[in-house]
Amino acid sequence: MKNIYSRIAGTGSALPEKVLTNQDLEKMVDTTDEWIRTRTGIERRHIAAEHETNLDFCEQAARNAMQAAGVGPDDIDLVIVGTTTPDQVFPNMGCLLQQRMGMHGCPAFSLEAACAGFIYALDIGDKYIRAGSARCALIVGGETLSRMTDYTDRGTCVLFGDGAGAVVLQPADQPGIISTHLHADGKYADLLYFPSGVSKKPEDFLAGRDFIRMKGNEVFKIAVHKLGDIVVEALKTNNMPPEQLDWLVPHQANLRIIEATARKLKMPMERVILTIQEHGNTSTASVPMALDVAVRDGRIQRGQTILLEAFGGGFTWGAALIRY
Ligand code: UT7
Repeated sequence: MKNIYSRIAGTGSALPEKVLTNQDLEKMVDTTDEWIRTRTGIERRHIAAEHETNLDFCEQAARNAMQAAGVGPDDIDLVIVGTTTPDQVFPNMGCLLQQRMGMHGCPAFSLEAACAGFIYALDIGDKYIRAGSARCALIVGGETLSRMTDYTDRGTCVLFGDGAGAVVLQPADQPGIISTHLHADGKYADLLYFPSGVSKKPEDFLAGRDFIRMKGNEVFKIAVHKLGDIVVEALKTNNMPPEQLDWLVPHQANLRIIEATARKLKMPMERVILTIQEHGNTSTASVPMALDVAVRDGRIQRGQTILLEAFGGGFTWGAALIRY
């Protein structure tokens, strides 16, 4: 029997219109544009307006990806949304997206894997397609991190932004998704977390008293280490020398982390897709948004080999080697 693989048939993304610049943040906390740019690479980030929600950006990103793939709502037979900032506890974001887009009956769910959520969702979508269980999967990563950011904490509020990215996966004779690599280690749960939820300290959660907490410097060191390992794992699994990579599309958390990963791969920064200066850290949305930006501006071309990677709270981390 012939092997079935999955390929990315279309990409899409969506950003809030509202922009928060480093200069805006200088007026809010004790920071400087210079510190933010040199320590993180971020110049501005997009922030949801009061009336906008994560679902608005997921919907727009999904519509753009479906248009690029030339498919409609009736073609989609699997919806997965990676997010840690869902609109509601339930229905899940996949179902809410179905409702917006007029999709009926196919499996739809969201998954929480923090910044690695999109890579986790891509891994699952790929496996559905390879198993013959889906023929047209909509994979989305969307966040409104601004809704859980403490804008009095200079250690975190300069980092995060909002937005969504999406891809449509379809079957192919040749691998589009060549391999995926997922990891997690809960022993690091106290380094990057949101302290409450519906079941734990619900009074703080429901009153909106809690925010993202991060021991930035410790997260930084482990991120560099784990991402360095996982890009090597992805290449080694496929006996692929780094020179064969056309592009690295990294999670956009910190320019210095991205540079360390590129150094590990001996890749010049010209072959690394950077959106961090414009988007900040959008968690699970960062990789699919960066991918879409580079597809739409023509840098990423069909047939090229691309490595995606992400690292986030949990810790969770993952990589995907793809032929676009
Ligand atoms: O996406 C999920 C994964 N997340 C990440 O990968 C984030 C990883 N961490 C980071 O990107 C970096 O650790 C940060 C950008 C968060 C912080 O950079 P850093 O170089 O690790 O700084 P630091 O935390 O070691 O702090 C150095 C100094 C401190 O002052 P003192 O104690 O040396 O006087 C901080 O208080 O910088 C200070 N600082 C700031 N100063 C101006 C921290 N935040 C700011 C700020 N503006 N916004």
